[in-house]
Amino acid sequence: MILVTGGAGYIGSHTVLALREAGHEVVVLDNLSRGHRDLVFSDHFEEGDLQNFPFLDSVFTKYSIRAVVHFAASSLVGESMKDPESYYYNNICGTLNLLRAMRKNRVMRLVFSSTAAVYGEPAVIPIMEDYPLEPTNVYGETKVAIENMLSRYHTAYGLNSISFRYFNAAGADPDGRAGEDHTPETHLIPLVLDVALGKRKNITIFGNDYPTEDGTCIRDYIHVSDLARAHVLGLERLLDGMKGKFAFNLGNGRGYSVLDILQRSRDVTGRDIPSVMGQRREGDPPILVASSGKAESFLGWRRQYPDIIDIIRTAWDWHLHRFG
Ligand code: UFG
Repeated sequence: MILVTGGAGYIGSHTVLALREAGHEVVVLDNLSRGHRDLVFSDHFEEGDLQNFPFLDSVFTKYSIRAVVHFAASSLVGESMKDPESYYYNNICGTLNLLRAMRKNRVMRLVFSSTAAVYGEPAVIPIMEDYPLEPTNVYGETKVAIENMLSRYHTAYGLNSISFRYFNAAGADPDGRAGEDHTPETHLIPLVLDVALGKRKNITIFGNDYPTEDGTCIRDYIHVSDLARAHVLGLERLLDGMKGKFAFNLGNGRGYSVLDILQRSRDVTGRDIPSVMGQRREGDPPILVASSGKAESFLGWRRQYPDIIDIIRTAWDWHLHRFG
């Protein structure tokens, strides 16, 4: 049995689908604070919080767990700056509790959900894994703290782990079973699709005075189902006995500006998507593009949906079905 924390969330639910397709049995643990009960794709569901150690411990006693895939966390950059305490508590204390429960129950394999935010504002593009970790927001700091914990847990207790540093997760399950559903929504593509649906009047572009070709920020959008498959590959390496603490970037290696995304979303949806120019959002680096060569060569990871049109189209199909 594989324990997936945060398995009712966006990337978690897609990973549960991918794990089950690869033949793994899964138990989902989620407190449903941001996740959705109808996105739990397993008959084994435990509703509860990582802060509750006796509950966590009981989950390890109830199921024979071989490894953990850990998504459960707060993940909004802006919110993390306004309320750092809740991010330190939820992300760092929650993960520490999970690691304690794993040690107690002798489960020594973990796949961890990290982020490109660990790199801060990198001067060199594409970003490699050995680039210095200099986060510029609290959310990124919590993920660096946890990655450091994983290194120490490896050295001191023999915990084996893989941290995946995602760039911009986007898109939805091509079979329409899952997709993005955040409240509040802060991400560019679902907000743009809300405008296409007529649920919002327009999209505000956060600044056009960046040092990029069209002046808007560039990001590396990666299909959520491709992220999910990387987790399956990583998990299987750990189950095969791979030892150590590893970190891999997951992106497409190609950047799109905010204006590119808007234009392509107009093409995919065939709808008018009005935009207005706004101020820069604090803490937005001008360009984030990944080098994912390490995950490709080390894990044999291959992207199935690298095309930005497929990413937006799957997101649109989901959006129409869920919110239309
Ligand atoms: N943007 C707009 N208008 C909006 C929303 C976003 O112009 O209404 C722009 C942002 O400025 C940015 C791009 O669209 O340039 C993408 O923004 P998102 O909020 O969708 O994603 P981010 O790049 O800010 O955040 C992502 C992940 C975070 C992670 C971060 C790492 O969602 O979890 O990358 O920097 F921390």
